[in-house]
Amino acid sequence: MTHLLSVDDLGGASGIEEVLRLTDSFVEVSARSIPKVPALRGKTIAWLFYEDSTRTRLSFETAAKRLSADTMNFSVGSSSVNKGESLRDTARTIEAMGVDAIVVRHGSAGAPHRVASWVDASVINAGDGWHEHPTQALLDCYTIRQQLGSLEGRHIAIVGDIKHSRVARSNVLAFSALGAEVTLVAPPTLLPPSVDTWPVKISNDLDAVLPTVDVVYLLRMQRERMTESLLPTLREYTAFWGLTVARAALLRPDALVMHPGPMNRGVEIAAEVADLPRSLIIDQVRNGVAVRMAVLYLLLGSGAELGTTAEERVRA
Ligand code: NCD
Repeated sequence: MTHLLSVDDLGGASGIEEVLRLTDSFVEVSARSIPKVPALRGKTIAWLFYEDSTRTRLSFETAAKRLSADTMNFSVGSSSVNKGESLRDTARTIEAMGVDAIVVRHGSAGAPHRVASWVDASVINAGDGWHEHPTQALLDCYTIRQQLGSLEGRHIAIVGDIKHSRVARSNVLAFSALGAEVTLVAPPTLLPPSVDTWPVKISNDLDAVLPTVDVVYLLRMQRERMTESLLPTLREYTAFWGLTVARAALLRPDALVMHPGPMNRGVEIAAEVADLPRSLIIDQVRNGVAVRMAVLYLLLGSGAELGTTAEERVRA
């Protein structure tokens, strides 16, 4: 694997499982009093973020530091992008300074794929438009596996603005590759036109689905990506599709609640529900660092190959 642009680049269940096993090693490293290994000493990683980010960017940054890599910060707001420099020229300029990997977040689907075609460095997709967010899917799989042992045969409902969600696309691919059954629950206006081809069931009755799930995964209304009016009001959205306190009571006692963040408390999830013991939202963030360490290590570590040998090298 040279790049991580899509969940499909991992080659199905076996590739995803390899990343998750390697993540176990990095969770162990992260728990040490000095949570740092020299695995990527001498490597340089640049961030190319054209969209806002809190979790993903800080998590990649922490992951790189724990692997002893050097990082090159690039902030679109204070760069020559404001002087009209193209994505291609910007990527090639960064590469000319000597980078081993470029982590790209961009508002347009396919932008990281374009960057990968222009540079020799490894490219990691940290979210491209409505398209994909593969490291989010990996950290979500890891978090579910940590709680439930495996995703095989589990029922996961993804609820909310599926249409504009790159997280939903990557998670459907990864969850179903690992054997979970996925149900999408959303108003018809927030389902993508291509959804018929996805390996999922569709429902518009959240109350009927909640008692049947192992995991309910909530999405934010991505209003910055909506070009038309798809919802009457947020209040109405919450009434029909929000995980309110009353609805959370329909969940089985052992069912889990997840959200990729950023949350809009009181809209897709009640503030009290986000803080319940069954909510894994903080675990997702914590695991995000170790998962990104695994991805960076697989792409840039010695041998750069998927497999137990990578795991053994880390533990050594
Ligand atoms: C998401 C994103 O930016 O794709 N956040 C994240 O990376 N954890 C989801 C969102 O914006 O709602």
